[in-house]
Order: sequence, then structure tokens, then C-alpha cells
Amino acid sequence: MADPLLFVDGDFHDPRRPLISALDHGMTVGDGVFETCELLDGRTFALTRHIRRLERSAAGLGLDLPDEGRVRDAVAAVENRWGPGGGLGRLRITWTAGYGPLGSDRSGGEGTLIVAAGPARAPAPVRVVVVPWVRNERSAIAGLKTTSYAENVVALARATERGGGEAILANTRGELCEGTGTNVFVEADGVIATPPLSSGCLAGVTRALVLEWAADAGIAVREQTMPLAAIHETPHAALTSSTRGMTPIIGVDDRVLKPGPQTLRMAEEFDRRSRDEIDP
Ligand SMILES: Cc1ncc(COP(=O)(O)O)c(C=O)c1O
Repeated sequence: MADPLLFVDGDFHDPRRPLISALDHGMTVGDGVFETCELLDGRTFALTRHIRRLERSAAGLGLDLPDEGRVRDAVAAVENRWGPGGGLGRLRITWTAGYGPLGSDRSGGEGTLIVAAGPARAPAPVRVVVVPWVRNERSAIAGLKTTSYAENVVALARATERGGGEAILANTRGELCEGTGTNVFVEADGVIATPPLSSGCLAGVTRALVLEWAADAGIAVREQTMPLAAIHETPHAALTSSTRGMTPIIGVDDRVLKPGPQTLRMAEEFDRRSRDEIDP
């Protein structure tokens, strides 16, 4: 597989070569924020929503984001290099605190902006594994998309070890929360439900679009606090994310699930609307 495109400081670089300081605070303590977006025919899907969330994540960490124009220019440079024939891709925008001290305090220096793009796999129905660790809905970084993602790495590795493609986490109250890089939905009796943001889950761009577009299409989707047990008991479930769209869950641990009829309708509606509108 070809190396990802890498754009830093106004230029493309070899992604295998060292480029930023080894003491960048994003590197030493995970002091940074990021977005993963889908590249459709060389264009970034829902870029404005992703930039707004990047701003919210940066504000939550107390980081100043660069000018929006600089972020958009960097994204455009990568989109142009990727090209309309580049196939399905994922584009990642990362902003870190930049060069910093060895500890958790900040130097207040210039941040680092990185935009990268690589190929994405077409989404496929997935089996999930419920892991024993929890999201802390009262954490200082709850709901922020920070580069401190090691908890997700560990949880996803556990799921992979057990033959799954995603891990599902509860929060500290024992409520269903989200996956490592996905929001979770359950379907029963014709209604699709997803945990509210107060569960500590990320405000997924795909999740928000599903809630909005479901209302337009007359599909019953709502936010609802649920116990973790809901994922073990539901007849149908699905994941959403920028790289998966809305994807049925076909197994929870050892239990087999069938895609739900409303989930399939909503997944189709999501694909149709996202083909029609690149920046909804
Ligand atoms: C923890 C977490 N939850 C949910 C999501 C899904 O969000 P989105 O639909 O914006 O990709 C992500 C995606 O990156 C994530 O990292």
C-alpha cells in the first residue's frame, strides 16, 4: 500500500522521515486534537462540521487553533494531490500544542498543524466486543477528540484479539457509551436509539447527521440513556463513524445479530444524502 500523503508547514513531506520536534507536546503527553474525515472523490465530506469540532476540542484543551483559512488551505492542498480518482480515502487533521516541556505544563509556543491522507477500506458489517474499561463522562477531556488515544488503542486491541472489529465501552455509571472510534446505535421495535452526549461519548459528525437525516426521512431515531446491558439484549445494533458511515453490527461478543430493518433504511438514506451533499 502506498504511503499516506503528509502535509506540514505548507509543504508535502516523506511520511517516513522525522519532521517535527521529538519534544512536541502532542508526542510527549498527547497534548493535541484531531479529526478523521472521509475523502469522497477527492473531496472531504462534512469538512465544516469537522473544523467546528476541532475548534471545540482545542477550546476544551485550552489550545489556540490556527486560523480556519490555514486549516482549509492545508486540506485543499491534500485534496488536490489526492485527486478525484484517488479512491475512497481518510483525511486526518491534527493540531498539537507544539514544542513543549517534558512535563504536562505548556511552553505556549507555536502549535503544529499536520494534514495527512491515506486509503480507506469500504465499510463492512462488524462484530463488536464489549470491553471491561470505561469512558469517564466526568473527565476533563470527555467528548473531546484529543490525540491521547491510547485507551482506545488498548480497547481495540482487546476486541481484535477476540475476533472483533470494534470495542464497545460503558461509562462510569454503567451506561452504554460508544466504541473506540465509533458511536453506537441499538434498534428495537422499529426505533433506533443512541446514547446522549451526557454519556461521555464523542459528538460524532455521522451520529449528528443520522439524527438530522432520520427526522427528514421519517425514520424513528432518538437519543436515550441505556444500561450497558442494552447492547447484550438488543435484537439489532449499528455503529457510525466518518469512515464507516452507518454500519450494522452483526455480533456482540458471542451473540449473532441480524441487521435491523430501520438500520438498513437509515444506512441507505445516509449513503444517498452524503453522495448528494459534500459539506452538509
Ligand atoms: C471516540 C469516538 N467516538 C465516535 C466517533 C465517531 O465520530 P465521527 O462520526 O465524527 O467520525 C469517533 C470518530 O473518530 C471517535 O473517535
